Amino acid sequence: MNIFDQQKEKERKINQALSKVKHSIAIASGKGGVGKSTIATNLAISLAQKGYKVALADVDIYGPSVPTLFNIENDEVRGEKKGEDYFIHPIERYGIKLMSIGFFVDRDKALLWRGPMASNTLIQIISQTIWGDLDYIIYDLPPGTGDLQLTLAKEFHLSCVIFVSTPQILSVSDVRRAVNMFRHPDINIPILGLVENMSYFSPYDMPEKKYYLFGKGGGDILSKELDLEILERIPISENISPANDNGNPISLDISTLESRGFLSLADKVVDKLDKITKENL
Ligand SMILES: Nc1ncnc2c1ncn2[C@@H]1O[C@H](COP(=O)(O)OP(=O)(O)O)[C@@H](O)[C@H]1O
Ligand SMILES: [Mg+2]
Repeated sequence: MNIFDQQKEKERKINQALSKVKHSIAIASGKGGVGKSTIATNLAISLAQKGYKVALADVDIYGPSVPTLFNIENDEVRGEKKGEDYFIHPIERYGIKLMSIGFFVDRDKALLWRGPMASNTLIQIISQTIWGDLDYIIYDLPPGTGDLQLTLAKEFHLSCVIFVSTPQILSVSDVRRAVNMFRHPDINIPILGLVENMSYFSPYDMPEKKYYLFGKGGGDILSKELDLEILERIPISENISPANDNGNPISLDISTLESRGFLSLADKVVDKLDKITKENL
């Protein structure tokens, strides 16, 4: 097969795997450790709680989180051969279909991969997964703007991107670079807006008080400079990390204060994506 046929074959397989997916959302950031995986996971759970069919694809090759966040052992993954092709069953938890690069490679090895190898592996995993009918697929992207993000943006037919940042942004330029990549005319993927994570802290016994531990207004600066709507401000919560580490993300318990923020984010995402879809019809 020559290189053009190979590319066509690759596209055919991706299109086939994602043919019944209505909306695809990438969760991106300029930097790591800002809460991308936390937002991606809790957004997925909130959308599923609203009755949508949801999948979460963890393509953060340098720091996959889904195995920990959903307490999944790698040996749970099942494959299936059909003719010449090999397919993978996503793992289901809480009604969400999950796939992670972390099911297949350990982190230390992935760190040594060169760009094209990482991109090809991701494309292979996504296009071999049996996704079926989905309202939303959420991609938890690696931070920044490398080859990988570019490939994903181009190949995965993203409906939109959501940016995550924290108030203590040290440089707007990291986020700007990432935003500009998605807005580049050759890529041109709508950016739904920004989630300001770790926005403030409210003590449980004084929920009306807000302490801006990392300074106030970081999200507003980004919002203004880069023309991004702030979709939600998620507070710092002492319950989020333990919930993440125990494989029970906070939104599973809808009585928590934290889950309300994610449900409200889910409502905005549904509304805004509906509008974008209608505009493009
Ligand atoms: N709003 C929050 N409050 C408290 N801890 C948080 C919050 N958001 C994320 N964290 C914690 O911060 C760390 C980084 O979050 P993570 O979602 O893994 O970021 P990323 O995917 O961007 O690297 C994790 O330990 C996570 O549990
Ligand atoms: Mg992550």
